[in-house]
Amino acid sequence: MNLSWPFLSSRQNEAKQRLIFALDVASLVEVKEYVSLLAHEVGLFKVGKQLFLHGGPQVVRLIHERDGQVFLDLKFHDIPRTVAKAGIEATRLGVRMFNLHASGSLEMMHQTVTEVNKVCRTENLRRPKILAVTVLTSLSKEDLKRTGVMAGVENQVVRLAKLAKEAGMDGVVASPLEVTRIRRECGKHFLLVVPGVRSRGESWDDQKRVLTPEEAMRAGAAYLVVGKPIRDAKDPREAVRQIVSEMEQGLASVPGRTVSLFRGGAARG
Ligand code: C5P
Repeated sequence: MNLSWPFLSSRQNEAKQRLIFALDVASLVEVKEYVSLLAHEVGLFKVGKQLFLHGGPQVVRLIHERDGQVFLDLKFHDIPRTVAKAGIEATRLGVRMFNLHASGSLEMMHQTVTEVNKVCRTENLRRPKILAVTVLTSLSKEDLKRTGVMAGVENQVVRLAKLAKEAGMDGVVASPLEVTRIRRECGKHFLLVVPGVRSRGESWDDQKRVLTPEEAMRAGAAYLVVGKPIRDAKDPREAVRQIVSEMEQGLASVPGRTVSLFRGGAARG
């Protein structure tokens, strides 16, 4: 239930649910502060490797205790059995999303989806969305060539996104430059989670490829991931509201959007 924005329109509420705040901090004190401040303002909190290694599963529990939801961004990549088991543990923690590398193979992705589905049935757990990472944005065409991938970045991204879809994954993490093409090639039900978003006129920091929140939603993003502009803002709550309002404008120009949102259900773990 939203307590801080009592008069939200349904589109405002939808935009809010589709914003993921990257909780790139290194202390539990900061986790508590940000989550208490923003749990009713954003849809999810992204927990990455640094924070998870610092605080462990306790970080996820701290977020749940404060009514927040978690995208566990650990980018699993290993033999299929190992990744499937990691996915099961993420599911038992009650996260709403987790991710793995599509380059780990069709089998690795498929086995993870299958075993997570199975454990959700047998243990009556909520099924998290399982996302694939395609090509990291830090990799260039030359980097790919050195690993024997000659296709070029964009073609490889699309190839891996299609493989993820074939494996039964729910979607991919996509850079702003890739959204339109993946949306076209993978259809309207595939979740696109998009980092690299900056409001108009804002500093790009270390982001190389950027879209505004409005442009990203219009291009077909299902969720946006934003960190620094919220974290470093004098008033993070105000920064979130500005981003949400821009997302809302983007959503307004996409009638009949079909990618579903998470609804209801208490967090476990
Ligand atoms: O730059 P900002 O803090 O908004 O980034 C938000 C999150 O998105 C960070 O956790 C960053 O690691 C991630 N990111 C990403 N791919 C990019 C850019 C940022 O996964 N191309």
